[in-house]
Order: sequence, then structure tokens, then C-alpha cells
Amino acid sequence: MYSEKVMDHFMNPRNVGEIEEASGVGTVGNAKCGDIMKVYLKIEDNIVIDAKFKTFGCGAAVATSSMATELVIGKTIQDAVRITNKAVMEALDGLPAVKVHCSCLAEEALQAALWDYAQKHDIKIEGLKPPKEGDDHHDHGAEEEEK
Ligand code: FES
Repeated sequence: MYSEKVMDHFMNPRNVGEIEEASGVGTVGNAKCGDIMKVYLKIEDNIVIDAKFKTFGCGAAVATSSMATELVIGKTIQDAVRITNKAVMEALDGLPAVKVHCSCLAEEALQAALWDYAQKHDIKIEGLKPPKEGDDHHDHGAEEEEK
């Protein structure tokens, strides 16, 4: 049911932990399953030079956060904003349809961390939207992206 890459990133997640004095931190949760993901970014000269995460969640959530941090390291903040849950899923060779919402959590956590960075530095990153507030964190895209 899971690709080898998903299993690998679940069993040996990359970039677990936290960054002290991170440039941006984003925490998101999924109200339906109760899983929580926190992403830390270190940004210098417009480039994401380090990323770490903590995920209290299912295996797919761990694997997608691991892959999302791998994808974002080395990117400019403009490119980092464009990392979608689809890109994360593709990098993992796909996810079962019922697990698509877990990858949305990874996208949202990255965006929330970038938003935090933008707020702290009073900059605007094109295409970046404020994180959704409140408990009703939902599984955006789960319906339309399930095949
Ligand atoms: Fe909650 Fe996967 S089941 S993020």
C-alpha cells in the first residue's frame, strides 16, 4: 500500500528535531485525525538553509514532513512557497488516496513557517497566504485530489 520511499521516510525520517532560533516556525493540525506537525526553518540571504520538523501523527504524516523538509532545504523562499502537497507526494512515489490529507498537513506546515518568517521580517512573499486559524483545520484538497 505504501511506496518504498514512504516506508523509508517513515522508518528513517530526515531532519527530525527543532531549530533553536529558527527564522520561521509553523504549527498546523488536522482536526479530523488530531495529528499535529511543526516545521522549523532557518533562512539566510533568502535561502532556506535548514529545516527540521516534529510530527505527532500517522506514518504518512511523518514521511511527508520528512520529504517536505528535504525538498525545501536549499530553495529560495519564493520557490519554497511553491512546494505543494502534490510535489511532496510525487517525491514519495505517491500516497494512498485516504492519506492525501496527511501531505496537505506538510504543505500547510511549510507555508505556516514561511508566513511566520515573513511576519517577523515584515516582508511579502508572493503567493503566500496566511495560515488558517482555529481548530477546523481540515483536509484541504483531500476530496478533489483523491483519485
Ligand atoms: Fe492524520 Fe495522517 S492520519 S495526518
